[in-house]
Amino acid sequence: MTGSHSWSPTSWRSKPISQLPLYPDAAKLQAAEARLSRLPPLVFAGEARQLRKALAKVTEGNAFLFMGGDCAESFSEFSANTIRDTFRVILQMAVVLTFGGATRVVKVGRMGGQFAKPRSSDVETRGDVTLPSYRGDIINGLEFTPQSRVPDPQRMIEVYHQSAATLNLLRAFAQGGYADLHEVHRWNLNFLSGHPQAKRYEDLAGRIDETLAFMAACNITGDTVAEIRETNFFTAHEALLLNYEEALTRVDSTSGDWYDVSAHMLWIGDRTRQLDGAHVEFMRGVHNPIGLKCGPTMGTDELLRLIDVLNPQNKPGRLTLIARMGDDKVAEKLPPLLRAVKAAGKAVVWCSDPMHGNTSTTQNGLKTRSFDRILSEVKAFFHACHAEGVYPGGLHLEMTGQDVTECVGGGYQISESDLAARYQTHCDPRLNATQALELAFLVAEALKGLRRENAHR
Ligand code: PEP
Ligand code: CO
Repeated sequence: MTGSHSWSPTSWRSKPISQLPLYPDAAKLQAAEARLSRLPPLVFAGEARQLRKALAKVTEGNAFLFMGGDCAESFSEFSANTIRDTFRVILQMAVVLTFGGATRVVKVGRMGGQFAKPRSSDVETRGDVTLPSYRGDIINGLEFTPQSRVPDPQRMIEVYHQSAATLNLLRAFAQGGYADLHEVHRWNLNFLSGHPQAKRYEDLAGRIDETLAFMAACNITGDTVAEIRETNFFTAHEALLLNYEEALTRVDSTSGDWYDVSAHMLWIGDRTRQLDGAHVEFMRGVHNPIGLKCGPTMGTDELLRLIDVLNPQNKPGRLTLIARMGDDKVAEKLPPLLRAVKAAGKAVVWCSDPMHGNTSTTQNGLKTRSFDRILSEVKAFFHACHAEGVYPGGLHLEMTGQDVTECVGGGYQISESDLAARYQTHCDPRLNATQALELAFLVAEALKGLRRENAHR
């Protein structure tokens, strides 16, 4: 049984594994793994511990987790502007949640490593041609040709370098002045101007200005309080390609513990969460904070056993449960899980991913998601948590700072026929900046309501 035997970064290799790419050249794979294992860590274990502490505050109901970014990062969309724009929408959303919801926000980007994708089918057929499915740029190419779809281990090295450059820029933005609260007006994106969300955001930014002026009069400024001039920003991705994760797993010299230094936080996908499978085996041994996706097929006993394996010491901040049920299933499927975890006394963060249970395909074959269904799942999540006396601790979105047309609905009322205009995702449809901000305002209101109610209890 998982949990009782000894763990090592390679112990996953003797377990059954799903979503495994078939590399045709084993020697080339080994050479890439060996090269990766000699490259410097992308994050420092101490930062992962800092995130665990921040998430422990969420477990207690004293902060809110916000995770957001691409479904799949790609080589072709890699640029300073895409990183900056996603980062600034996340900053805007965090400000809306912090100020509007009166809560501290832990910011985690699906960035700097989110390249491997689980697929429901191993193959894709177009006309009479069948090829291996695209599994993310870390594995093979999106282009529908036999050459491009062959898994190539060299792509792991390219992902490492792209992630290093991404992290470098994110650290510079977070700490170098860009995230200073005095810049709150400048985060508003140009293409938002004139839109109701932009107006609403500008109003809020104005109130923040006033607050900062008041605080400055009380001698609380960026010089005295670091939180005003810089922000903490963490990265996360699905730990799907274990060859990559293993090569970046190292013993931290400070604590003597194993950390996966490819990101601060990693999560287990809904398709790879088998109790005796390779992904759970790998993740139980690394000391990073981890996430576990919980889809509609997750049973209560199964979840409790997974929690015991993944967080045997019940450490607050170690485990975040990310519910992704679908708006039509959440009211039925989530409450029993909330109840069982609470009754068992497990310290976890409950987070809502309103994206992955709400994907549909248009008549033209484009994957999309309706803003209304996304919103309805978030509301149902808050409602279920409230009814069970559980803190709704976070939100996990697929979103971008680019002005894409991938999800239908929202303030601009994007329709199915608008989707083709700017449909750029390499995998699942993302909320654009307007849709993401709209959601942040709605969640901030829900959080504020919650605070008010708790104060009256
Ligand atoms: C994802 O987060 O991109 C994903 C594939 O999610 P899930 O495992 O919940 O389907
Ligand atoms: Co996705």
